[in-house]
Amino acid sequence: MESSLVQEHASNAGMEAMQKAHIRSLEIIPTLNKSKGWHSDIYEYQGFWYDSMLLQGLILAQDLFRAQSSDIFLCSHPKTGTTWLKALTFAVATRTQFDESSSPLLTKMPHDCIPSLEFDLLKLLNQRDPETHFLATHFPYSSLPKSIIASGCKIVYVCRDPRDTFVSRWKFAEKILFKHTEPIPVEEAFEKFCEGVSHNGPYWEHVLGFWRASLESPEKILFLKYEELKKDPTLYVKKLADFYGRPFSVEEEEKGVIENIVKMCSFENLSNLEVNKTGKHRLDTPFAIENNLFFRKGNVGDWKDCLTNEMAERLSQIVEQKLSGSGLTLTKTQ
Ligand code: A3P
Repeated sequence: MESSLVQEHASNAGMEAMQKAHIRSLEIIPTLNKSKGWHSDIYEYQGFWYDSMLLQGLILAQDLFRAQSSDIFLCSHPKTGTTWLKALTFAVATRTQFDESSSPLLTKMPHDCIPSLEFDLLKLLNQRDPETHFLATHFPYSSLPKSIIASGCKIVYVCRDPRDTFVSRWKFAEKILFKHTEPIPVEEAFEKFCEGVSHNGPYWEHVLGFWRASLESPEKILFLKYEELKKDPTLYVKKLADFYGRPFSVEEEEKGVIENIVKMCSFENLSNLEVNKTGKHRLDTPFAIENNLFFRKGNVGDWKDCLTNEMAERLSQIVEQKLSGSGLTLTKTQ
């Protein structure tokens, strides 16, 4: 997080606490293991890798963010279906106010409908809308601000085949991260992903943290896979509504509310909306970004077009070996 941004907001929210957390983050970073990331140096903190900006955001969030017990967190490693999960969640949660012809999702990018702990932290600390109960984050389970677990917040986690996750992340990096920096060769980026030295990685550790927590507390943590959502979105929209304590009534089911939500949040529909084709979000932050970058193909198995068989096999083997004994598999059809 840029110091100017922190200073600008520090006068609003507990200035001293924020400055303290900011100074703490600046002191911690030089003491950490450092590695070359895809586009900037990355640092190992509590077992995961981040660039310095995200890391400062994480340390600030850990020090300052206080969850409310009614908060529900949408958690994910980047490029595993966060945008889709946000859209589905928002549509489910607001269905009595809006339908598919009036939903804010038609004019607002899903990331603008559900705030994110890392990118919207300052707003959440200073002017949190009391009606905001859904929040999102890419931070790993073991590094979540303590109050999230202590307050018993519910969590939905979505994960994805690591091969598609890598490809999606790489394509995203090509479009945005390499605008201002020299791109590293894809083979090198792949190697780093396989070593676990990648943004928010190791990927398998990110997944395992939430997987194990979901086994311990299934009533608090709903664990989803992108591929299963793609296969039967209707089933999972129902599961989400039940998990959020807002199950669909028989009347809603008969009226086709679930199918309408699935259709409205489909890749085809969202990616063709004007706001997602030409809009940008987080314009007032250092993270401004074109909305269309979050809608690329939305397919399962797109890795087949981008990775060699050897690369795909290597990543599958690494991940499955790391997951072995956990009861979870990410690259095998179940
Ligand atoms: P691809 O790059 O494979 O197309 P995230 O939202 O976590 O950044 O993940 C982005 C991935 O989700 C991209 O995958 C994107 O195309 C896909 N995606 C975005 N919206 C989607 C939707 N409504 N349905 C299915 N996939 C979607």
